[in-house]
Amino acid sequence: MARPASAAEKTLDRNLTLELARVTERAAVAAARWRGRGDEMAADQAAVDAMRSELGRLAIRGRVVIGEGERDSAPMLFIGEEVGAGGGPRVDLAVAPLEGSTLCAKDMPGAISIVAIAAAGSLLYAPDVYMDKIAIGPGYPPGVVDLDNEPDANIAALAAAKGVAAQDVTICILDRPRHAELIARCRAAGARVRLISDGDVAGIIFTAQPAETGVDMYLGAGGAPEGVLAAGVLRCVGGQMQGRLVLDSPAKIARAAEMGVRDPRKKYALEELASGDVMVCATGVTDGPLLFGAVFDREAIETETLVYRSSTGTVRRIRALHRASGKFEAE
Ligand code: FBP
Repeated sequence: MARPASAAEKTLDRNLTLELARVTERAAVAAARWRGRGDEMAADQAAVDAMRSELGRLAIRGRVVIGEGERDSAPMLFIGEEVGAGGGPRVDLAVAPLEGSTLCAKDMPGAISIVAIAAAGSLLYAPDVYMDKIAIGPGYPPGVVDLDNEPDANIAALAAAKGVAAQDVTICILDRPRHAELIARCRAAGARVRLISDGDVAGIIFTAQPAETGVDMYLGAGGAPEGVLAAGVLRCVGGQMQGRLVLDSPAKIARAAEMGVRDPRKKYALEELASGDVMVCATGVTDGPLLFGAVFDREAIETETLVYRSSTGTVRRIRALHRASGKFEAE
């Protein structure tokens, strides 16, 4: 039985911010070597290996509480895997060493490497299954939309709260056959639908910057790890989100129950997906709307990383030049 985190452990060391950036930088660079080579598995594996080795240098006693791979048999940092060099705070990690492996394999926009870290017990401990999600950006009254409302009701409520017509609301949805009805219903309610081929962490982050991205709401089912990672970011920048694990078989219900999910239909609020002091780091693998991808030059590798912290709401954009590129990757 895990010991509850002490008050001191609930606040993460600020230095971890920079330490964590190294983790996603390294994973992103490793994945970026596989950009455009049509091999998702190799790109994933490279990112996982690099992330695991870099996490091993952090002075943390970490446990991966949610990560990818179980759902699609991709290489992974195992859920429950202990990471870190030890000696520091006990922390939970949500990881996507390569979020958007298809985007990377096809050298399409939006692949990133992303990690969220919080005091032990703060991030949802759950299997890699789908999660139904709804998210909107900051500035709206609490509860203006709800995962259990029909899409047209959510669109009407959001439009009214924003002071625009439903025709001026844009919903971001993963382009999947399972979303055909949802897409049709959003369009029938008057909204625009922005379809994305992959990468719903970014899809949710878009809602936090509607003026720049044009996206007001995210709807639909994507990976649960991506849901926790996106929740971590919304905790830092503001916004509302709810998620529900899609436990649609006895095996998934049993697997989730082993991990402490007592109610398989539970609707998780933002703070239940990611609570306490949360830090999130994301580095670009391919060029995309949030970040540019790793740039390989003769002398150096350039990376761009976003670092979010909930306790202060600080968002840092770190553009790093890793000189002597071979050394950076071999270290
Ligand atoms: P991967 O990098 O694991 O392929 O995830 C990409 C992604 O688009 C996620 O952003 C999203 O949550 C999930 O896949 C959706 O799953 P599926 O492709 O099975 O619909």
